[in-house]
Amino acid sequence: MSSARVSGLIQQVVAAMRPSAPGADPALQARMAIVLRHLLEAVEEAKLTEAELTGVCAFLDRIAEAKEWRFLTHVFGLDTLVTETTHGGEERRTVDNVEGPLYAAGAPEVASPALMMRPDEPGERLFLSGYVINTATGQPLPHALLDIWQSNAAGAYAEDDPGQPEWNFRRRVTADASGRYEIETVVPGCYEIGDASGLACGGLLQSLGRHRMRPGHIHLKLSAPGAQPMTTLLYFRGDPWIDDDSIFSVREDVTLTLTQHDDPAEMAARGVKAPFHTGHFDFAMEPTRTQVMQDA
Ligand SMILES: [Fe+2]
Repeated sequence: MSSARVSGLIQQVVAAMRPSAPGADPALQARMAIVLRHLLEAVEEAKLTEAELTGVCAFLDRIAEAKEWRFLTHVFGLDTLVTETTHGGEERRTVDNVEGPLYAAGAPEVASPALMMRPDEPGERLFLSGYVINTATGQPLPHALLDIWQSNAAGAYAEDDPGQPEWNFRRRVTADASGRYEIETVVPGCYEIGDASGLACGGLLQSLGRHRMRPGHIHLKLSAPGAQPMTTLLYFRGDPWIDDDSIFSVREDVTLTLTQHDDPAEMAARGVKAPFHTGHFDFAMEPTRTQVMQDA
């Protein structure tokens, strides 16, 4: 509860935005009123001093200079909340999740079943499969496109790792005519986001006692004719950081339990020399509005 002084100040600051002024945007004014109210209340509650406010401004300048605003929104959970707000509301479909900064368009196109990486890639092999389903009909979506990217077993993305060839662990995989997809990959490793040396907000996170770890995950963008495109993430139980994601985006419904296979006959059948994992996940996509009207 703000003091009478701050309540009065909030009223003044909000009233300074005149709805009828030339060029005024009423929707923006309404949202800024919310932001300013919370900001002024927070400043009062935190008892921010003049010197601290100057420090905050200098910090925000450094964030802008280092282009780390998106990093900041990630580590404070804003991206997770905004993604859910943007795409939420339909329980039958797979939830959209944070895209992250490392998507690259134009990955090699391959048909399912698809190998995600160079054949001799180190790591625990994972065969991940399932169907892409239309939530309205419950039927598979033939030839759905899964644009997939992930790190290697050590948590490194190809573009940050000179030891990996270009497009390693990046593929555009086409599901078959029955809507089934299968990829052969490795279990992605957990990793630390941001480069500590270049982080303007690294000091802030350190002062807050925050780490920058993310559990291993697979990113996907899905598209299919008549379906709304989707961006999501898959996680894996047993990952050391699964309960402590620095961007708060892990969800139970997209966290997979993998099955380990160490039977030599199964290994031979899969063409691998070491025990491997299998995982299953069906993606549920919503039809586009036009498609819903055509089907009605
Ligand atoms: Fe990632």
